[in-house]
Amino acid sequence: MRAVIVDRAEPSGVRIGTVPEPEPAPHQALIRVRATSLNPAECRRVAREETGFRPGWDFAGDVLRPAADGSGPPQGARVFGNISGGSWSELVVHRADWLAPIPEGLGYEQVAVLPIAGLTPLRALERGGFLLGRRVLVTGASGVVGSIAIQLARLSGALVVAIVRRAERAHVAEEAGATAFVGDDCRVAAERGPFDLILDGQSGAYLSTALDLLAKDGICVFFGTSASNEIHWDPRNFYLKGGGTLYGLALGHELTKRGPRDDLVRLADLVRAGRLAVRVDATTSWRVVSDLVRRQLARETIGKIVMQVD
Ligand SMILES: NC(=O)c1ccc[n+]([C@@H]2O[C@H](COP(=O)([O-])OP(=O)(O)OC[C@H]3O[C@@H](n4cnc5c(N)ncnc54)[C@H](OP(=O)(O)O)[C@@H]3O)[C@@H](O)[C@H]2O)c1
Repeated sequence: MRAVIVDRAEPSGVRIGTVPEPEPAPHQALIRVRATSLNPAECRRVAREETGFRPGWDFAGDVLRPAADGSGPPQGARVFGNISGGSWSELVVHRADWLAPIPEGLGYEQVAVLPIAGLTPLRALERGGFLLGRRVLVTGASGVVGSIAIQLARLSGALVVAIVRRAERAHVAEEAGATAFVGDDCRVAAERGPFDLILDGQSGAYLSTALDLLAKDGICVFFGTSASNEIHWDPRNFYLKGGGTLYGLALGHELTKRGPRDDLVRLADLVRAGRLAVRVDATTSWRVVSDLVRRQLARETIGKIVMQVD
């Protein structure tokens, strides 16, 4: 079968090649992938992995062969989900009980953007508990994860403040429902704090200043380092003001505690009902994967890039 492979001999570092077909275990279904999407972090891996690495997390497609143990959807069912690598392929195998059905009325392309970019903020927001009337701060709010986080927090009844680094992208956070501030760290939003829940995928100065804005007994859920891998932080405020929690979220680990199926269904239903909008800037054939990875790494796009596996 054909699949996207990292190839360090290629100028772009990536190409479509031929690899062995995956063999499903008894609890796994075999899926013909119709669409997949790019996530910034997997494109960064494409840039640094060795030849032979197979990128790709999200997928949407059709069940070719149901799980042999009888679990999960039948042959021909339209499904979507995420695997830990290699979804930029014609075929994937996945545990059948984690596959979510694609709701009537939605296409493969519309749900292929949801797994990683939707489950991450959904599970992060969950750490904040009941959010009605709570103050929530979202950093990196011009990204897809940030934009979905804002919308889900607003749907939960929270008051949402967002930080973006570029003024020209503040509209992304505002359209999602937040009051947006532009800055290199979170101090610009101090007047709107303290915050009961902070979601940070930026790290660096964003995270260190966000922790100073945490309400007593608040929680900061940290899940990415888009801005920096380092943080300089004076920890005294963190306990002197009365305590708080810093929670490091890894989606893969969260999914081992509770599978993704029901949350994927929730996200897709919100999209179908017009209550959640995921911006898509490009939907195109995977044959131009080199250029798509380049565009993602350069952050030329604001929304998702969807690849059709044709
Ligand atoms: N822990 C997990 O399991 C998990 C799962 C999914 C995602 N993540 C992480 O979540 C974060 C957000 O995801 P995303 O898909 O929205 O990714 P993203 O595109 O890397 O992040 C978007 C945000 O980061 C900002 N940004 C990018 N580079 C920056 C830099 N050098 N300095 C300051 N700001 C920068 C962008 O601003 P501009 O729009 O101005 O470029 C945008 O607001 C990422 O770090 C990703 O790796 C973690």
